[in-house]
Amino acid sequence: MGWKSEWERSLSDPEGFWMEQAQAIDWGRAPSGALHDLGGPVPEWFADGMVNTCYNAVDRHVAAGHGDRTAIIYDSPVTGTVEHISYAALQDRVARLAGGLAAQGITAGDRVIIYMPMVPQALEAMLACARIGAIHSVVFGGFAAAELATRIDDAHPKAIIAGSCGIEPGRIVEYKPLLDAAIDIANHKPEFCVIFQREQGIATMTARDFDWEDFTEADPVDCVPVAGNHPAYILYTSGTTGAPKGVVRATGGHLVAMDWSMANIYGVKPGEVFWAASDVGWVVGHSYICYAPLIHGCTTVVFEGKPVGTPDPSTFWRVMADHEVVVFFTAPTAFRAVKREDPEAKYLAGHDLSKLRTIFLAGERADPDTVEWIARVTGKPVIDHWWQTETGWTIAGNPIGLEALPVKTGSPSVPMPGYDVQVLDEGGHPVAPGTLGAIAIKLPLPPGTLPTLWNAAERFKSSYLNAFPGFYETGDAGMIDEDGYLWIMARTDDVINVAGHRLSTGAMEEVLAGHADVAECAVIGVADALKGQVPMGFLCLTNGVNRAESEIVSECVKRVRDKIGPVAAFKLAVVVDRLPKTRSGKILRASMVKVAEGTLDKVPATIDDPAILDEIGVALKRLGYPVG
Ligand code: COA
Ligand code: AMP
Repeated sequence: MGWKSEWERSLSDPEGFWMEQAQAIDWGRAPSGALHDLGGPVPEWFADGMVNTCYNAVDRHVAAGHGDRTAIIYDSPVTGTVEHISYAALQDRVARLAGGLAAQGITAGDRVIIYMPMVPQALEAMLACARIGAIHSVVFGGFAAAELATRIDDAHPKAIIAGSCGIEPGRIVEYKPLLDAAIDIANHKPEFCVIFQREQGIATMTARDFDWEDFTEADPVDCVPVAGNHPAYILYTSGTTGAPKGVVRATGGHLVAMDWSMANIYGVKPGEVFWAASDVGWVVGHSYICYAPLIHGCTTVVFEGKPVGTPDPSTFWRVMADHEVVVFFTAPTAFRAVKREDPEAKYLAGHDLSKLRTIFLAGERADPDTVEWIARVTGKPVIDHWWQTETGWTIAGNPIGLEALPVKTGSPSVPMPGYDVQVLDEGGHPVAPGTLGAIAIKLPLPPGTLPTLWNAAERFKSSYLNAFPGFYETGDAGMIDEDGYLWIMARTDDVINVAGHRLSTGAMEEVLAGHADVAECAVIGVADALKGQVPMGFLCLTNGVNRAESEIVSECVKRVRDKIGPVAAFKLAVVVDRLPKTRSGKILRASMVKVAEGTLDKVPATIDDPAILDEIGVALKRLGYPVG
């Protein structure tokens, strides 16, 4: 069976195709069918099955006699720790944490926020929630208190599980003060918190906090079966506005898609070591640090460090060699960092990569320079694949396990089963091969993708379904070539991608607009050699403000860091008199990007006053743009 026949079968007979794949999962009660129309905007997968994610990720492997197999390798160059956790030990740890949660009254459907660095306890917290049917929402550690508060107010968690601190190169990030501040800001208050104390930064406890060590002395509890369409988790992601979108992942489809992807996309067998160098706060971390490798019975690597500086650019190679990683997955930006510090890959010497079969990239456009460099220095196939928080797994890729297709550098290859990807014009009509347009996916989306947004069914429709009736709008633009390969070119909205992290320029604009001296502002993403894109702010000051511009700029930079977090990497801002707008008042951000990147060849016909673009050009020169 090749990719083409499987893909076609998945579209012509989704019931048959996905019911067959569902057999890889251990169901408490098997679903009667794959797709269920429950009257919502999209049908739901395996809705009447009963199943438990933690059972499939942990217990079933122990029951099958693989309790001694390593489930998690924790490799933390920032603390000098390497720890192996077997499936049996993981089961015990997770069952006890779940027992603690259950003893405090957490039951199926309750939300639990997890705010933790890259330690095994983060995965244990996710799995403990899954064990009792609680819905977790992991918040990335690089977000500030206000962002955490927004998520608390949307998810209404009964409990929060947090680490006392994270470790960034050169500094300890105290999570507990951020957590306490977020709870203060939020209107909703959790009933209790569980704090995993790390010796690098012991947190001060309050009356609402339990210490992880005491908490996990509870009696272990068993897995609680939930319905196939029960939300497994909520993961917030950036949209056009400051309010993040709570992507819901339903349990049954998630299990089936995760397991299918390990065998067919990544070509990995149970017992092999899989490493995704990301963070549990992002979708890559959910799917490929935690769930998919464990569901498939593999060993997953939890890496607490950076590609460079922890301690040097040999780290990736060392971890791959030391732990006999067969498939490695990261964002192109991580390899750009390695390449920048070690262009000749001298640090690779002495690290045996003979077990490594394939390197996968995702999260942002894989630029051909980086792809070719990785392939040259490692001698391994480098596979780009394209997906989103919303889908949870690959939309387009090269399914190595099913059939290795020819690689076209710069393209993530072809659609995966269940994804009928089409490129549409503004009127929603499919365009000819090689023509640019909006990339959309004909409904239904395959299992594992979002059925809705948390608490925001209308926003789900307006964000994804209304633009092209019968399709899911991806928010990406691009084309499909004559061979059916996809090419992803740009976002169609105000989302930017900074070091593989998805950020909203709208959210940054809201923060800047809150500065007393800023009357109006715009944030754009400009090309950056390391991070792919970085945000840049343009500030129009309130009439009569008579302070040093540099002071206002510094305050704005600090404000974004304090309100959104260091991960926004907002460091560039400039004061301008006016913003370029259309005659109807819409800010021409795309034209500003072109001015910043030196690629503006045509002033848009709709512009109100073309002279403003020249003024923007002058302001940008002060920041050193366009580069080169
Ligand atoms: N907790 C607290 N702060 C964090 C954090 C966390 N979990 N993660 C990042 N930050 C901070 C960093 O310390 C940095 O702060 P600074 O402005 O004080 O230096 C800021 O957020 C930006 O971080 P980052 O995006 O990691 O940039 P960097 O310059 O430190 O490192 C790379 C650049 C390319 C090495 C790094 O971005 C990287 O490894 N990216 C991989 C991306 C990835 O895994 N994406 C997931 C999708 S696959
Ligand atoms: P996130 O939801 O954070 O995973 O970000 C998803 C977005 O990142 C996509 O909509 C794309 O804009 C971008 N992206 C992810 N993977 C790729 C890829 N392989 N090539 C190009 N863009 C990508």
